[in-house]
Parts: sequence; structure tokens; C-alpha cells
Amino acid sequence: MARLPLHLLGSPVLRQRSEEVAKVDDDVRAFVDSMFETMDAAQGVGLAANQVGVARRVAVIDADGHRIAMINPRIVSAEGRATAEEGCLSIPEVFADVTRPERVVLEALDADGTPYRLEVGALAARAIQHEIDHLDGILFLDHLGPIKRKMLLARWKKDHRNDTTYIKEVTPAAAPSD
Ligand code: NI
Repeated sequence: MARLPLHLLGSPVLRQRSEEVAKVDDDVRAFVDSMFETMDAAQGVGLAANQVGVARRVAVIDADGHRIAMINPRIVSAEGRATAEEGCLSIPEVFADVTRPERVVLEALDADGTPYRLEVGALAARAIQHEIDHLDGILFLDHLGPIKRKMLLARWKKDHRNDTTYIKEVTPAAAPSD
């Protein structure tokens, strides 16, 4: 197990559609462990594999008591609408209200490769949708209106104009974020 460096906005892998996992083997399990460790150190409620530079369909969440690994996850049904503030470990210090379905039914494989089905609402539903978006190359900013999105992106670019890398080491002292 190891903490993995995070890829921040600007890293091309965040815009890639991730590949399905063909077989859940020991390598995948070790990777899932490292993702949990990274998410915990960064104090996130979710993490997708491409946020640590790996374009595979693997994500983890820890939200509303649901601490789960999701391999090849998909949402099979969704209902309702809810708006709440979101952030992202790949876009630190940027937050905005996002409207999404309030409840979802998730199907995925767990770290043993066993299929499961989970129906959740509230924060867990939001986190699952946010992470599956990542696997499709979508960021929470993409759900905002064009003006709000443009404003947040302009501020991000200004704040990060001197950055020489989009890789960020996670330290347990990092500020809390979603
Ligand atoms: Ni995110």
C-alpha cells in the first residue's frame, strides 16, 4: 500500500475515458488499497483512478457510512434532483453547487471481483455520481452554467499560473476537501 500523487486540473488523464477492468486480481486489489489510503490522507469522500493517473474504471468512496470500492461501476437508475456544494481533490479550493439526481442504483464489482448492487441517496449518491463522472473524463465544473464555470476556471488559472506541474503529493496535513 502506498499513498499516490494526485493529478490536478490540467492533467490530460482527467479528461480521458477510463478503460474497463478485465480481471480483478491482486494488482487491482493493491491499487484499491492505495486509493483508500490516498483518499483518507487527502480527507476526501471519493477518489477515481484517473485522479491518481491511472485510466482504469476503479473508484472508492467513503460517504454516509458507505466505504466502498467500485470497479467497472455503472448507474442503472436514478431519480429525483438535489443541489449541494461539491469540491474535488483534483481542483482544490474550488467549490460550487451542483444539481444531480438525488438517489441512484449502482452496480459494480467489489475488490474481490464480486458484483453488487447498492441503492443510496444523499451524499453517497452524489459521491458515486461524481466519481463515475471522473471515469468518463467529466469534472463537477462541467455541470455548472457557462458563466459560473468560466469564472471558476479563470480564477483557477490565475491562482495556478506559476505551477510547473499538475502532480500534487498528498500529505496528511493537506486541507480538508471533497
Ligand atoms: Ni473529484
